[in-house]
Amino acid sequence: MSPVGPAFALEKASVVRGGRVIWSHGDLSVPLGDVVIVIGPNGSGKTTLLQALMGLVPLSGGHIEVFGEPPRRGNPRIGYVPQNYTATVGDAVRERDLVAFGVAGDRWGLGRLRPAERARIDAALVAVGAVALAGRRMSSLSGGQQQRAAIAQALVGEPDLLLLDEPLANLDVRNQHEIVSLLGALRRDREVTIVVVAHDLNPLLPVLSSAIYLMDGHPHYDHIGEVVDETLLTHLYGTPVKVVRSAQGDLFTRSG
Ligand SMILES: Nc1ncnc2c1ncn2[C@@H]1O[C@H](COP(=O)(O)OP(=O)(O)O)[C@@H](O)[C@H]1O
Ligand SMILES: [Mg+2]
Repeated sequence: MSPVGPAFALEKASVVRGGRVIWSHGDLSVPLGDVVIVIGPNGSGKTTLLQALMGLVPLSGGHIEVFGEPPRRGNPRIGYVPQNYTATVGDAVRERDLVAFGVAGDRWGLGRLRPAERARIDAALVAVGAVALAGRRMSSLSGGQQQRAAIAQALVGEPDLLLLDEPLANLDVRNQHEIVSLLGALRRDREVTIVVVAHDLNPLLPVLSSAIYLMDGHPHYDHIGEVVDETLLTHLYGTPVKVVRSAQGDLFTRSG
């Protein structure tokens, strides 16, 4: 694979969980620098795909390569924000401590951090615009601020691939917009490939370059302009979807 090859690629990839094929015939290649959405019905295996990229779920067939290598647990080139992550964080945890987990793992306590690690934590807080909130308890932050803290934690390792599982869930429209703007800024300021699982394409459309859609048990990849298609989305979601083009050239989709 060439040094400028894809961020990750699937070749005839399939996953079986609990004796059931979750998806199969995964053949796709995601270029470096993409902001790619992963869409598909509940249970279609979106989270499973992220887990496979991280080496947390084995393939039952085929291959995956991440930066030209097989997936492996603890790959430092990957940053990950799990689904519903912030809901699992204890009330008393301060934002800076949460971000520090990104370098320290279970090594609790900022006192033991090396200067370079502290600098990376500070840089991650700056990147998500959360410096002023760093001393606050997570429970005192809004949903959007909590999600930014979780993203900062994933950025501490300066990943080349950022995996976000439903980062817009449970956020109001304003907070959704803030997170989407943040993803756009990360894409511009860091050479990071971003994979974001989401139910709704609309809020993410301004920053997306492509989509992986899990349809009929198979992962497919295409440019976002090809995926925002009435026939495709109607089939994917199993409910009528309308695609509307505004005068500004924006695309958006809506249940019809
Ligand atoms: N640890 C597990 N063991 C067995 N089956 C699982 C496990 N985790 C998820 N599954 C099953 O795999 C399927 C895909 O799950 P998931 O990847 O979480 O879907 P999505 O994120 O698209 O909602 C679901 O049917 C789910 O029940
Ligand atoms: Mg999921």
